[in-house]
Amino acid sequence: MLAMNFRGPYRIRADRNRPEPKIEHPYDAIVRVTRSLICGSDLHLYHGLVPDTRVGMTFGHEFTGIVEEVGSGVQNLKQGDHVLVPFNIACGTCPFCKQELYGNCHESNPEATAVGGFFGYAHIAGGYDGGQAEYVRVPYADVGPMVIPEGMDIEDAVMLTDVTPTGYQAAEMGGIRKGDTVVVFGAGPIGIMAARCCWLFGAGRVIIIDHLDYRLEFARNYAKCEAYNFKEMDDPVLFVKKATDWLGADVCIDAVGCDASGSKLQSITGKKLLMQAGSATALHWAINSVKKGGILSIVGVYGPPWNLVPVGSLMNKGITVRANQASVKRLLPKLIDHVMSGRLDPKGIISHRIPLEDIPDAYRMFSEKLDNIIKPLLIPPKAFAV
Ligand SMILES: NC(=O)c1ccc[n+]([C@@H]2O[C@H](COP(=O)([O-])OP(=O)(O)OC[C@H]3O[C@@H](n4cnc5c(N)ncnc54)[C@H](O)[C@@H]3O)[C@@H](O)[C@H]2O)c1
Ligand SMILES: [Zn+2]
Ligand SMILES: [Zn+2]
Repeated sequence: MLAMNFRGPYRIRADRNRPEPKIEHPYDAIVRVTRSLICGSDLHLYHGLVPDTRVGMTFGHEFTGIVEEVGSGVQNLKQGDHVLVPFNIACGTCPFCKQELYGNCHESNPEATAVGGFFGYAHIAGGYDGGQAEYVRVPYADVGPMVIPEGMDIEDAVMLTDVTPTGYQAAEMGGIRKGDTVVVFGAGPIGIMAARCCWLFGAGRVIIIDHLDYRLEFARNYAKCEAYNFKEMDDPVLFVKKATDWLGADVCIDAVGCDASGSKLQSITGKKLLMQAGSATALHWAINSVKKGGILSIVGVYGPPWNLVPVGSLMNKGITVRANQASVKRLLPKLIDHVMSGRLDPKGIISHRIPLEDIPDAYRMFSEKLDNIIKPLLIPPKAFAV
């Protein structure tokens, strides 16, 4: 089959001779991919920032597909079902899944000290091959996949596998109260969706900060928020203070993670020398920009082992920190309602539709932020008609 093949940092191949996945366990399903997406989290792998990312892996944790085959134990899915598949691989029965912490499943990742299993990620997330391919093996098939609701656009459906729940959960974890000022760091798909969702929770003012003008312009229109370029500021923290009567934001959201720009020290120690798990610049700014007693919501991804952040400010300001991978399955019913009723428009964030065989170009374009790219959608050759 055709699938993405990771050959090392910045080296991706569209491989036409990958073996098709097979049922390995009674609870598996094999899904023929109809759409998949590239995520900012894939860029952390592409840039070599995630430990134990193995050559030969197929990435892709955001996909929809048609069920081709199910294992003997699968009860909720049948051949021919068109499903959206959450990026978390979850067993559904461990203590963490029972608390609806589907991103922290204790069974789906042998290294389960923190995250559970994900599709198409490094072996620290279980090492499962992902959906930037024609076929995927989906473990615990009765738990994650959901039949795409009747009448839902396939592009909205694929955006429900990660971006929409993650943006929504970023706002939710912010504990936003009516009238709050929220500052979102990062105007990628996640930050843009988070900014839009802040209004659903009653925010009074939403500010997004990035350094890419085309994304800021998109965010202004799509999320109806204020948008500012940190390259035009002397100091982003001072900027937020000035904008909030010197109090700081009620809520800050980090939607950047370990690949942040903006600080030479962070970038050199984190991204060049790999002395810390990537660069924590946005997190640093968020901690210093939130008000005393405020809430910091972290959805930007950081990996092991650790990062340089001002923990003293965190402690002495009495900041509440909430962070996690999104728990997609928990949020789906609510988000389907928001999408079907028109309050959220996930597919509006997709900027590029690219044949799967051109995946090396898609990664390069997304990594280098070329052609005003925001979110690239991949279409396998036989799925164009779907
Ligand atoms: N928690 C989850 O479940 C979850 C799910 C999906 C993605 N993520 C993470 O969310 C983050 C964003 O994902 P994305 O797909 O939007 O990625 P993206 O790479 O498209 O966007 C990141 C944006 O951050 C901007 N940026 C860089 N440094 C910055 C700084 N110091 N301050 C403000 N903005 C800065 C970049 O210009 C870019 O526009 C990534 O870390 C990704 O791994 C988390
Ligand atoms: Zn993702
Ligand atoms: Zn579990």
